[in-house]
Amino acid sequence: MEIQLWKELLDPYEQAVSELLQKFHNLKEEHRKKNLYSPIESVRGRVKTVASILEKMQRKNIPFESLEEALEDIAGIRIICQFVEDIEKVVSLIEKRTDMEIRNTKDYLRNQKDSGYRSLHLIVWYVVQTIDGPKRVQVEIQIRTMAMNFWATTEHSLQYKYKGEIPAHISQQLTRASEAIEMLDNEMSQVRSEIMDAQIDSQIETNLVKDILRNIENLYRLDNKREVIKIQNEFYRIFSMHNLEELERFHRQLDIIAEGSRAQAVDPAVNHKNP
Ligand code: GTP
Ligand code: MG
Repeated sequence: MEIQLWKELLDPYEQAVSELLQKFHNLKEEHRKKNLYSPIESVRGRVKTVASILEKMQRKNIPFESLEEALEDIAGIRIICQFVEDIEKVVSLIEKRTDMEIRNTKDYLRNQKDSGYRSLHLIVWYVVQTIDGPKRVQVEIQIRTMAMNFWATTEHSLQYKYKGEIPAHISQQLTRASEAIEMLDNEMSQVRSEIMDAQIDSQIETNLVKDILRNIENLYRLDNKREVIKIQNEFYRIFSMHNLEELERFHRQLDIIAEGSRAQAVDPAVNHKNP
């Protein structure tokens, strides 16, 4: 084997991970901009290290020739959700896309692993464009809740510490912890709609404030400055009320004022009538 082969082999996977991270980040942003609750809380990604690839090849007796076919997780994306229900939502989002094709689903939610591991895995085909043309690579997308992630991360560290031979009493504790995690996720599901509403309201408020301030700034350039300062003070007063409906009402009124003022600025006839 030539010395450069590893880098050549891994480059398209690096590209796939970097593109997919951006794409899932964009999905989250799109929800935010549209004041929608995002089922994606956060996204991470990594390319398997050569050491870890070698270890898996040896463990599973995989020859170099079939490496790319047999190792589904050279490129790995991990999507963290707040609630169990969000996991299915993320799957639907992925199913709708034309740039990822689901090859295989591993449902460790319905079929929890003996260790207590829970997660939903999708193995997808993803095409990266290289200077030698398109290349189709496999990507393992792990979708799990924050609570499941907490468990998996801890358990993984222990696996590492005990080199895969976790002592029985610790392994029992992990099983109990995994049951507790499942209960926690179920409890959190009960308050999901409340939390979603709160998050959406906070997002709406953020977008409203951004919009209002942009309008005030524009007005300040065009209009009677003293009037605009009054409007700004009124905004501060309404903002301190912590009432979204009031803020929305103010936003609508300001929109009308801004509209009129823009019309004046661009239409000399209007300017003439209302100097
Ligand atoms: P690996 O050789 O571990 O990659 O397993 P695999 O190729 O046979 O696939 P599997 O679906 O069993 O596991 C894929 C990935 O899921 C792993 O690389 C881990 O990231 C995660 N995983 C699977 N089982 C466990 C587990 O018991 N504990 C933890 N912490 N993670 C797990
Ligand atoms: Mg793996």
